[in-house]
Amino acid sequence: MITASSSPNSAWIKYWGNRNDPLRIPMADSFSMSLDGPNVEIDIDHSPELVVHSFNPDGTEKILGEKHVARFGKTLENVKTYLAKLEAPDAIPASCNITVRSNIPSAVGLASSSAVFSCLAKAIQGLIAETIELTDDQASVIGRLGSGSAGRSVHGGFVALVAGEGEEIDSAYGKQFADENHWPLHDIIVVPTMIEKKIGSTEGHPTAHSSPHYKDRVDAIMNCRQKECIDAVLAKDFEKLTYVCEEDVLDMHMVMQTSTPALHYLTDDTHRITEGIIELRNAEHLPVFYTMDAGPTVQLICTDESVDRVREFAYAQEGCKVFEAKTGAGAKIIKELVHTERSRSATVA
Ligand code: DP6
Repeated sequence: MITASSSPNSAWIKYWGNRNDPLRIPMADSFSMSLDGPNVEIDIDHSPELVVHSFNPDGTEKILGEKHVARFGKTLENVKTYLAKLEAPDAIPASCNITVRSNIPSAVGLASSSAVFSCLAKAIQGLIAETIELTDDQASVIGRLGSGSAGRSVHGGFVALVAGEGEEIDSAYGKQFADENHWPLHDIIVVPTMIEKKIGSTEGHPTAHSSPHYKDRVDAIMNCRQKECIDAVLAKDFEKLTYVCEEDVLDMHMVMQTSTPALHYLTDDTHRITEGIIELRNAEHLPVFYTMDAGPTVQLICTDESVDRVREFAYAQEGCKVFEAKTGAGAKIIKELVHTERSRSATVA
């Protein structure tokens, strides 16, 4: 049995829309910073059939709906197709027994699925290591098959999901540009509501193509925005990073809002928080920028220099919950239990 741990990431160039929905092959590149928490742990072992258990942060079992279990089943099926392509068709001979322990409060607006499926990918990488040694880029493909953004959380630090070309299962993969020691940044997460969103990203991606602005968005990312973001991170140029990330998040939400059906994830609270942080940034020349995913939660990315002031701002937002994270190291294996007869009986006992 293998136990892995992982955390979500903060998306700066947003992933929105696929060229292949079932395989989660994105239309465009995306970029994120892996976070150091909150974390998810997954135990995995071989099993004749698929078994999935999930536990909440308070330790109670979360009863998974059919849709959730089916998502794990579909992901494993796709993983087996990928392993066959890598000439290891028997690396997972039947199915897996998966136990998920999440410390991520649901509906925080932090993509918990990016943590869960990057964690699953790392756990699978460990489980099959005797049959085939996967690189982290290959493990990121496994993460992507479960949740597109999870393709970025396998690696630590600053990571792209490279869209690649064509329809091959591994044409898009996660690529690390700098590790977690490159630039210590903070993510102060301001959550206006804990109510779960109605339309998740998986259901949202197919609508992207219906927006008249979508083609321009993809072109902008592929022609310059992704490179500008990577250059800003490598040069630790916070001002340039602020410009490119805020441009991208507004662009993604414009696409969402002009799709059919239109998706409105931002609320009055979101706008109040982003306007407030711009005012503070201008008044005090603070290095801080905002970003939002498919929900009203605002992530405030800042440096050591500005974190105290940003924290103060965040906790002053009425009716909001605040979570804090920093640059993280990506998914890792934290326990390996070898199935000797002794360990098996120890586990049973
Ligand atoms: C807006 O397909 O990774 O957060 O459906 O929860 O698995 P799930 O999400 P995913 O889409 C994420 C979309 C995004 C932007 C991003 O993370 O890049």
